[in-house]
Amino acid sequence: MDPEIEKLRKPGHKILDVIKNRWSPRAMTGEEISDEELMSLFEAARWAPSSFNNQPWRFIYAKRNTPEWNDIFSLMVEFNQGWTKNAAVLLVVISKNTFDHNNKPAHTHSYDTGAAWMSLALEGTSRGLVVHGMEGFNYEKAKTVLGIPDGFTVEAMAAIGKKAPKESLPPALQPKEVPSPRRPIEEILMKGKFRS
Ligand SMILES: Cc1cc2nc3c(=O)[nH]c(=O)nc-3n(C[C@H](O)[C@H](O)[C@H](O)COP(=O)(O)O)c2cc1C
Repeated sequence: MDPEIEKLRKPGHKILDVIKNRWSPRAMTGEEISDEELMSLFEAARWAPSSFNNQPWRFIYAKRNTPEWNDIFSLMVEFNQGWTKNAAVLLVVISKNTFDHNNKPAHTHSYDTGAAWMSLALEGTSRGLVVHGMEGFNYEKAKTVLGIPDGFTVEAMAAIGKKAPKESLPPALQPKEVPSPRRPIEEILMKGKFRS
């Protein structure tokens, strides 16, 4: 168990260790992740639940030192490029907006795809990997550069890699390299009706 997590995260109720231990470090070694290990993360995503079992999630990925890397790397804002340069894999998470069976809008395509991303993140956590989500990239450019057709939504990006000591980060990022807390449960939970 990571002592930093034990110190900083104190769930008020019992939860699975893997949920508590998932967080979003930025320090990564730049080492490669094997295809076998990477495919286990996507396999975990596959088994997420979705409305009508439509499985609207799609993933575009690139490994470091491959021709596809630069296209995906170039989408990110400078801040994210600063630390993801040491990732092993960059990922763009996409969802299909409609159901396969009737072509009607699927209201939960983003929700379902979020569930798939979380499965992937938990599988990564259980393997000691960094899985760090990102919104800081150019969504429009992603559609063009990656050839994403109409009818699909670009949801988010993620960086995956092997964890490195926080001292390997630029000094400005080192203080941010800590597991974050959460708002109290009373703030997110309402019995019966919405409470503002
Ligand atoms: C969809 C999504 C987008 C995010 N965007 C960024 C980002 O662009 N850059 C970044 O450094 N962190 C980003 N994060 C990380 C969040 O800041 C982080 O998940 C949040 O502070 C909670 O911390 P934890 O993941 O360590 O528990 C993102 C996370 C998610 C899930």
